[in-house]
Amino acid sequence: MIEAAIYGYGNIGSGVAEVIEKNQDRIEKAAGQGVHVKYVLDLREFEGDPVQEKLVHDVDVIVNDPEVKIICETMGGNEPAYTFTKKALMAGKSVCTSNKELVANHGAELIKIAEEHRCNYFFEASVGGGIPIIRTLNSALKQENILSISGIVNGTTNYILTKMEKDGAAFDEVLREAQEKGFAERNPEADVEGYDACRKIAILSSLMSGKTVDYKDIYTEGITKLTTTDFLYAEKMEMTVKLLAMSRQTQEGYLTMVTPMLIGPENPLCSVNGVFNAISVKGNMLGDSMYYGRGAGKLPTASAVVADVVEAARFMGTHLPIDWSEEKAVLAKMPLSRRRFFVRLDRNKVPEARAAAEFGNGRVVFLEQCPDEYGYITPVMSEGEFAEKFEKLDGAITRIRMEE
Ligand code: HSE
Repeated sequence: MIEAAIYGYGNIGSGVAEVIEKNQDRIEKAAGQGVHVKYVLDLREFEGDPVQEKLVHDVDVIVNDPEVKIICETMGGNEPAYTFTKKALMAGKSVCTSNKELVANHGAELIKIAEEHRCNYFFEASVGGGIPIIRTLNSALKQENILSISGIVNGTTNYILTKMEKDGAAFDEVLREAQEKGFAERNPEADVEGYDACRKIAILSSLMSGKTVDYKDIYTEGITKLTTTDFLYAEKMEMTVKLLAMSRQTQEGYLTMVTPMLIGPENPLCSVNGVFNAISVKGNMLGDSMYYGRGAGKLPTASAVVADVVEAARFMGTHLPIDWSEEKAVLAKMPLSRRRFFVRLDRNKVPEARAAAEFGNGRVVFLEQCPDEYGYITPVMSEGEFAEKFEKLDGAITRIRMEE
């Protein structure tokens, strides 16, 4: 029997305890021995819950117990998770985490510490919830040169955008409903501003490049400025708007960003709706592949943590290498990247001929519901050139990037 501990008994932590309990036979078969949760670390008390017997408030009780070999870190946030994780790894205990913030901030360093102490730092649950994307990149696609990764990696925003599209509901209204249903956090900033997706694509890009892609260097735009009118235009163009997290190899380095993007029905991400996530990976030999599933939620995420626990148990005493060094990856400069843009323009201030003169020959889109404005699809142009023209143009209402 392998003794394990859980750091943090919140939504995911309690899910991990549940998965270990309910699937113990499967886990024993897969890991070669049973897994037993000896301790749960949390500041709170859980009177009446059986977990109370295992509850400790001092991390050192766990770190100093030689019987404990595996830690599930489901605390979230940087501190104290960072300090507690380091302590565990330095004591030779493998850590399996769902904490994307910590992985994005210190992934390479924690992997190195694990290597030095012949244990493992695994983070399957940090991206895509129950979708096994990390293990896919680290093992099944190890032989591939990954050319690009793009996907929907935030369930909350995808739920909101789907509702805006299908029900014509306003952003604030859907956000409130998502909070009431428990999909969105009370403080939804990390989701709706794209910060959560940014950390996830930083992790995926780091695995893609083998170096560190710092999330602070990633261009990130959330969904708060999108309106129901934008979706009416999207419908007219037989497209939809998704919050995409993307990373692509270019000659200038990795072009990585998080942004709302107009995509057409030929893109399989177009039909990924609600809280679901999907990640599309292009390898140089493989071509396109796609991974789809529940990107958030207690049990899907906990299941991914437990998958790492099984791996840690199977390879106890061995460090499984993960190609992610602390060296910074070279990132391409956003202003040089090229694409089409959809711009909404005030018809009285910017007549159609002026749009063509400003942006080049494009396509005009009219919406019956909005006679005082029109949409304009620009030709392919650089971000820098577009931004300069758009920002100076009196009468420019909004803009959305379009997939290439
Ligand atoms: N808030 C995240 C989401 C949770 O909505 O996708 C999973 O990381």
